[in-house]
Amino acid sequence: MLFAAPLVLLALSAIGVRAGKMTEGEACDPSRNRLDQGTYNFLSDCDPQTYCGPDNTCLKRGCRRDIYPYGYYGTPYDQLPSLCKETEFCPDEGSGCLPKSPLGGPCQKDRDDQCQPPPNQKDLASYLNVNGSICLGFQCYYANVEIGQPCIFDNTWYEGIADDGTTFSYMVSRDNCRKNTYCDGSTALCNQKRDKGQGCTANKECKSYNCVIAKSGESGVCGREADEPLKPKTWVYVVIGLAIVICLVGVMGGLWLLHRRAREENQVKLQEYYNEQIAYRQSIMSMSHAKNSLLSLPVNTSADAARASLYTEQDSMGLSTSNGLLPPNIRREASQAGSDDSEVLLMDQQGQGNNMRYRG
Ligand SMILES: *[C@@H]1O[C@H](CO)[C@@H](O)[C@H](O)[C@H]1NC(C)=O
Repeated sequence: MLFAAPLVLLALSAIGVRAGKMTEGEACDPSRNRLDQGTYNFLSDCDPQTYCGPDNTCLKRGCRRDIYPYGYYGTPYDQLPSLCKETEFCPDEGSGCLPKSPLGGPCQKDRDDQCQPPPNQKDLASYLNVNGSICLGFQCYYANVEIGQPCIFDNTWYEGIADDGTTFSYMVSRDNCRKNTYCDGSTALCNQKRDKGQGCTANKECKSYNCVIAKSGESGVCGREADEPLKPKTWVYVVIGLAIVICLVGVMGGLWLLHRRAREENQVKLQEYYNEQIAYRQSIMSMSHAKNSLLSLPVNTSADAARASLYTEQDSMGLSTSNGLLPPNIRREASQAGSDDSEVLLMDQQGQGNNMRYRG
């Protein structure tokens, strides 16, 4: 039954095309007013904006059932035929509003809204009737028969069109039993409707109006309502919640690890940079002092002696000296320090160095 409603709509729109083409004032034959055999939609020779009047001509419709009726495309809203009052109804042909029929009075096919509601309409109303009244076999009834009491039912076969274009038939059974009961076809007595999971042979036997039949011929089981919301179990919420938390923690942990690695790499780089800078500074200082050392050699120093390496084991005369090897960065003693370069590492000049050594 789940797919029946769209199918009916589809069929109705197809019927609309097949409806009459005569416009207002043109001739029509009232004997051709009929119901479509597949959908029970009302048809006549006249177009959707007119109905076949008693003088055999198409007349403008005097009322409408829907807020936006079929066949009025492009018509301004205030020029549509009027809707009917609560105590009236608009018949299928749309000739004009008529008063609702009392209990036992006439009604058109499945037009429960053409019947006056019962006094206790709130107790009797359900989704299978209109305000507690129901039209069965073109007669108005109240849907008020209790369990075990004799009831009236009305079986209608409809034709549907499946997705692949094939047609199929299905039956809709309506009855005047109270809410949550149904009229059994063989006994014509009202029975209690069944809950989900219990056996059934037709939709009307289920509270959900959905009898799931696996194979035709076999008996079915009452399924869930077409509009029943899905209710996930508690563990689904727990699992999804945990998954979200784990995802969040994973992303944050991953970012933290990445950041930590980047920070460590940066730290190493900075350390290397500072070491490099310090070494650079020391090199410049050494060079500067080496220059000062050369300039402050005694005036009559020979070129060879000035060029002699501090590291050589031979003196300027080519003789081996014990003090040829001086540590490259002896810190000058404070007493000896000049006004400048007090904390600079100094290459000691050969002569002074020797003196210092001998003094020390
Ligand atoms: C059903 O009853 C309600 C409340 O009395 C009313 O508003 C509504 O128009 C009725 N429906 C029909 C189709 O008469």
